[in-house]
Amino acid sequence: MTFDTVGCSCQKRDHRQIDMEIRSVKGMNDIFEPQIHIWRHIEDQVRKHFESFCYTEIKTPVVESTTLFSRGVGDSTDIVQKEMYTFEDRNGEKLSLRPEGTAPVVRALLEHQLLNQDPIQRLYYWGPMFRYERPQKGRYRQFHQYGVEYFGSEDAWVGAEVIAMVVKLFEKLKLKGLAVRLGSVGCDQCRPSYKTILSESLKSLHAQLCSDCQNRTQKNPLRVFDCKNESCKKLVGQLPRILDHLCQVCGDHFAKLQGALGEFGVSYRVDSGLVRGLDYYMRTVFEVTSQDLGAQDAVGGGGRYDKLSEDLGGKPVPAVGFAGGIERLAMLLESRQTEFQPKLPLYVVMPDDQGVGTCARLVSELRLLGIRADIDYSGRSMKSQMKRADRSGADYVLILGGQEISKKMAVLRNMKTKAQEEIPLETLVDDLKRRLQ
Ligand code: HAM
Repeated sequence: MTFDTVGCSCQKRDHRQIDMEIRSVKGMNDIFEPQIHIWRHIEDQVRKHFESFCYTEIKTPVVESTTLFSRGVGDSTDIVQKEMYTFEDRNGEKLSLRPEGTAPVVRALLEHQLLNQDPIQRLYYWGPMFRYERPQKGRYRQFHQYGVEYFGSEDAWVGAEVIAMVVKLFEKLKLKGLAVRLGSVGCDQCRPSYKTILSESLKSLHAQLCSDCQNRTQKNPLRVFDCKNESCKKLVGQLPRILDHLCQVCGDHFAKLQGALGEFGVSYRVDSGLVRGLDYYMRTVFEVTSQDLGAQDAVGGGGRYDKLSEDLGGKPVPAVGFAGGIERLAMLLESRQTEFQPKLPLYVVMPDDQGVGTCARLVSELRLLGIRADIDYSGRSMKSQMKRADRSGADYVLILGGQEISKKMAVLRNMKTKAQEEIPLETLVDDLKRRLQ
């Protein structure tokens, strides 16, 4: 079973089976059983993990003013240029579905002056994001991110702690085959002169670049490193790298970051061509990739963005953060999905309707104690009830009908050992509580 065929509406649509005109929007998926159990597992682990690092949750609206993203993420990025869902509301205000979570969190931080309460703010979030990209495996138009943002320190140790926290999360989730790529994109001091050097080098390669990169040469030349076009990929090797052009402060920061990652025991690879698709980064950038994801291999990414607050009209606030895609994490956990299935301790089978009142009361009492129990009131045959009970994976099946009531006994079948025993009705609830709780 693959993510694209189970528990998710991104399966190929079979028009012979479903004759429906209204369907989910392309690139936007329904998530349901069994996939939803993996999602729940991820959510539980992520929340627990971030909270143990003293992050608290923030929820921001799904819709924000378009200006937030054009100023925050950057006017010349693909996200703002091509991928945002933007519309005017009834009042003529230009709004966008959020394509990412960092700019909204910074907006909220400034709007509510959270740094006045505590000069260090550690916030995490979880929710849907929207980008009008070409859908493919691992890339959707509505996708979900979990993320963290740390505000209030320029220190390289903080970035290292964020990266280490992310790596430890993936270890807790028992993910294999991941790699951390680390880079620096410099700062306002060193990046402009590097951009000039890069643009000069790109001029001589202009004719060999794809049309997107030809446009990027002046406005956003660093994006050339991220181009998926084969001919551009080959040319990238000849280009000067920002890591050779960092100013002293950025160079020292990058060295300190690597030292701190060593202390945290994090393995990483310095990637001098690592650029990210958002303009707000300065100094640290990083990405975690998986060898098991195919073309869309980024499990998550992040970096430092000390100037974003000022870009949005606030005072300077040093910050660093990370966000990961939940769909991609779920894909990596898919082969273990039975682990995340909720257990079913009891299934009640009724051979006839004479015990239905007793069975209904019993199931209800157990459920109120938090014990999952299933029952089928539809009067199906014993055979089909047993078949469904078997498929449900229940630990025990309780059989209770007219015959059992006349004997004042119920039959309890252990589905693993297939052993059956009779339990007096008088002590049934206590007996089941003891066994199943
Ligand atoms: P990003 O690299 O654009 O960073 O997205 C983070 C992660 O979201 C990606 O690595 C990927 O796992 C997932 N993702 C992105 N687009 C899609 C898509 N179309 N379909 C499925 N998954 C996707 C950010 O969004 C930054 N806000 C991260 C950050 C936080 N930087 C600092 N703080």
